[in-house]
Amino acid sequence: MTNTEFDYGTLTDYLTNDASFLFLTGAGISAESGIDTFRGKDGLWEQFDPAEVATPEAFSRNPEKVWSFYQMRREQVREVEPGLSHETLAELEERFPPVNILTQNVDNLHERAGHQSLRHVHGNIMSDRCSGCGALYEVSRSQDLVTCDECGELLRPDVVWFGEALDPQILDTCRKWLNGCDVLGVIGTSLEVAPVSRFPDLARQNGSYLFEVNPRPVLFDSGSDWEKVFVGPADQFFKNWKNHIEGKQV
Ligand code: OAD
Repeated sequence: MTNTEFDYGTLTDYLTNDASFLFLTGAGISAESGIDTFRGKDGLWEQFDPAEVATPEAFSRNPEKVWSFYQMRREQVREVEPGLSHETLAELEERFPPVNILTQNVDNLHERAGHQSLRHVHGNIMSDRCSGCGALYEVSRSQDLVTCDECGELLRPDVVWFGEALDPQILDTCRKWLNGCDVLGVIGTSLEVAPVSRFPDLARQNGSYLFEVNPRPVLFDSGSDWEKVFVGPADQFFKNWKNHIEGKQV
């Protein structure tokens, strides 16, 4: 018994009672727009070894290879559009603020859908940063390596690689939002990567109402927690929830 029993009513009640919503999103929310997820069949990490393309050591060893991997991924992001999930979240933010998002995604689909209150926990692929002095740059389209105007070191994508720490200011916002949210929606993430993997527990300890949307849920047991887990694609979930909200004419 799943999905047909999902409790849209409780979520909608929270919305209309000025609750504070937080969404933790992962690659699954952009999958239907055409961006590859990382894990599982056809996942990016099945095609590329992260140790070869997503670590500081890889960049020191072979910067050309890492740069070309990110130029390829940037092209993919430019070619796709935000989907129904990104758009619905932006609409919900406009109508029922606050609707904050912590995304592990480095794409820009939430902001292109118009979402305002958002933090990129793993950085932003559509920006460059100097690997030496940290100066930020607009994203380069060059297939060749680019150097910093200030210090001459190589530019790299402004993302968090394996083995690197998260931005402390963003971590502060994560803690603040996780402590302060009434509802946490965990959408399209395998929760394989720390510290994000611990975020749902932080919100749970704070008494937040948790729910999950994923064709292969990781947080809830789809057999017994059916009212809090939607087993399926994110766009279908948001379509259903929108219909529920409109049906109630809230
Ligand atoms: P993963 O690729 O690990 O997981 C994607 C999740 O999305 C899986 O649980 C899928 O079942 C689910 N999924 C697939 N299609 C979906 C859909 N249409 N709707 C909803 N869910 C769907 O991606 P993340 O959990 O985002 O980090 O990965 C976390 C981090 O690992 C990434 O930010 C990246 C990666 O290594 C860094 O690069 C530092």
